[in-house]
Amino acid sequence: MGQAHHKVQVVQIPGQGSTTSTIPQATKMSLRQISAALRRRNSLILLLCLVAFYLLWFQLAGVRLLEGSGHPHSDQWEERVAKELYAMRLQASEMRRQLTRLGSAPAHWRHPDLPTIFVVTPTHAIPTQKADLVRLSNTLLHVPNLHWLIVEDADHKSELVSRLLRRSGLVYTHLSVATPPELKLQPKDPRWKKPRGVLQRNAALSWLRENLEIVDANGVVYFADDDNTYSLELFTEMRDIQSVGVWPVGLVGGVMVERPLVDNGRVTGWLTPWRPDRAFATDMAGFAVNVRLVLNHPTASFSIESQRGFLETDLLTQMGVTLDDLEVKADLCTKVLVWHTQTAKADLKIEKIMEQKGKPATNVGIEV
Ligand code: UGA
Ligand code: MN
Repeated sequence: MGQAHHKVQVVQIPGQGSTTSTIPQATKMSLRQISAALRRRNSLILLLCLVAFYLLWFQLAGVRLLEGSGHPHSDQWEERVAKELYAMRLQASEMRRQLTRLGSAPAHWRHPDLPTIFVVTPTHAIPTQKADLVRLSNTLLHVPNLHWLIVEDADHKSELVSRLLRRSGLVYTHLSVATPPELKLQPKDPRWKKPRGVLQRNAALSWLRENLEIVDANGVVYFADDDNTYSLELFTEMRDIQSVGVWPVGLVGGVMVERPLVDNGRVTGWLTPWRPDRAFATDMAGFAVNVRLVLNHPTASFSIESQRGFLETDLLTQMGVTLDDLEVKADLCTKVLVWHTQTAKADLKIEKIMEQKGKPATNVGIEV
């Protein structure tokens, strides 16, 4: 064994010319084995590469397979989400049905940290009243920590509105105050001739002053007429208002949209064709105020004396608000989240003809 170490073998190493090596004779056989091993190694490397390639391909194909069943925006994924949403809605509507049946408003639909949104709605007895209130209450049901202040333009609270509120599942306060006949619109008068809902909104402001404590009052007051269309996003936008929040209103004043003019995040004026010189040229639906403003200005109210179209601006002026106080909502006033839709007057021509002929009204014994 020791002798073998003295023999010298010339080994041709590919690419390196001839080199003198000290590999002993006894390893001659194992050299062949080495080259075989090298070949085996190469095959092994090739095999490993193939396996790695195969695994990679499998992985990618697998991802594609997964995509098929669950990747967002795939058809299956959307179908699954739709099914889950449907099941959740079903559950929610069943719970709401139970709450209504038990006669308990979901006062627990309250979060201690969320400011309350006080929604003030004047309403009057016209054929479309219930339809408007049902539509509005369906919207409000989606909003947590909401308190509906609904004020009937009537001497007494009606059974129709009382029942609707009891069954609504909303947290509410029901008030009534009648607009004196001389201040009321006559059937032939154009809509704009007399201000509407003035005494009713004032009754709600008085209720807030009588029932909330300044120290812990935390919330926002929004004047939401019964016939507008409200996006749920609007309520999220207004909830954190500290002074006065403003935003665009769609389909109002004879144009597609009226809105605050915003420069560098501040309101600089108003984009409206009619009297943009008003200090606050916004529709009732285009602003909300922090409830502290109502409590800190105990005499601020809507005025029956206000010039036509000046109800809103006159109220905000009494509250000592300036343009600088305005908080710009709805993505710097670039989004329409409320529409001044107006419910068409009910067409009851046939009902009148039937009445003249002494026939009974179609709504005898059924509330419409
Ligand atoms: C527009 C504004 O959007 C109102 O906020 C504003 O009060 C009104 O003009 C005005 O200038 O006085 P518009 O759609 O023309 O509103 O008015 P309505 O929707 O007919 O009335 C506003 C609110 O007052 C409604 O909630 C309605 O139910 C109530 N209302 C109307 C009464 O309580 N009594 C009435 O005799 C008429
Ligand atoms: Mn209206």
